[in-house]
Amino acid sequence: MTFPVHRPRRLRRNAAIRAMVRETTLRPEQLVSPLFVTPGENRKKPIGSMPGHAQLSVDLALAEAKSLWALGIRSFLFFGLPDRKDDEGSGAWDPTGPVPTAMRAIKDALPDAVLMADVCVDEYTAHGHCGVLRTRRDGSVDVDNDATVERLARISLVYAEAGADVIAPSDMMDDRIGAIRRALDGNGHDEVIVMSYAVKYASAFYGPFREAADCAPKFGDRASYQMDPANTREAMREVALDLEEGADIVMVKPALAYLDVISRVKEAVSVPVAAYNVSGEYAMLHAAAANGWLDLTRVVKETLLSIRRAGADIIITYHARDIAEHL
Ligand code: PBG
Repeated sequence: MTFPVHRPRRLRRNAAIRAMVRETTLRPEQLVSPLFVTPGENRKKPIGSMPGHAQLSVDLALAEAKSLWALGIRSFLFFGLPDRKDDEGSGAWDPTGPVPTAMRAIKDALPDAVLMADVCVDEYTAHGHCGVLRTRRDGSVDVDNDATVERLARISLVYAEAGADVIAPSDMMDDRIGAIRRALDGNGHDEVIVMSYAVKYASAFYGPFREAADCAPKFGDRASYQMDPANTREAMREVALDLEEGADIVMVKPALAYLDVISRVKEAVSVPVAAYNVSGEYAMLHAAAANGWLDLTRVVKETLLSIRRAGADIIITYHARDIAEHL
């Protein structure tokens, strides 16, 4: 007679045993909540494709951060919507712009909060691209890498001066991590963390964000700077370069369609890995839940766990409020 010695169900028998053997945790302090900040006061403009999120003036962004803080969320990622845009995106380095103003106000009210500033010009440029443009010899127009990097370093300094704990460049220019690191170190900001959007794909999942931040490119697309969704080895190259240039944290974005990439990056590096659970991933679950097709709390938890399981230490997610009180 043979005995079934290996019976995995023994370890699933009750909640306490399941909790004891659980391999992956999901905690509010691992989540980062994005905030979209506008100038003005008492202004709230809901984002249609991202139910529960809105463009908020500084006072309302502060109230939102306080309410998320009460739920255990400790980190915020700032995006700014300026009143006016130009070809260079000069609003991005205005120290009186919505992002520096919001960071100063939130740092004052919540001194222990982790403030992360997304660094990119696309919300500030009239053409919607992530850099300044140049005309190539053949007459085609492209984003000028080095001219853009110079501006990114300038923006990073303005955000560091305003109290950013983390500078997070999302533009995908070459050499920007080193340039930003040098600018920070050269100006007394050696403690400021650089979290690189190291692996950012040219993804259709950013659709709702472009409504949220009003930054869809007015012509062409971002394929000459964001990565081809077909590539993984290139992702490893981007990560290696950013680490060499001094990145403290590397990010993969989007998350769900790229869990394999998160996992591979995690195995290859010893720095913390972040994943960005992007706007389209948020919109999908909310749309299905609004139709009664999915149980929102359960699918959000399962989704965020999958990103943690793949290897993300930190998850940037619009679901922070959906899930914090259920953790
Ligand atoms: C660009 C930026 C984008 C996102 C974050 N930073 C949009 C883009 O690259 O087009 C997308 C985030 C999301 O979809 O949630 N500065």
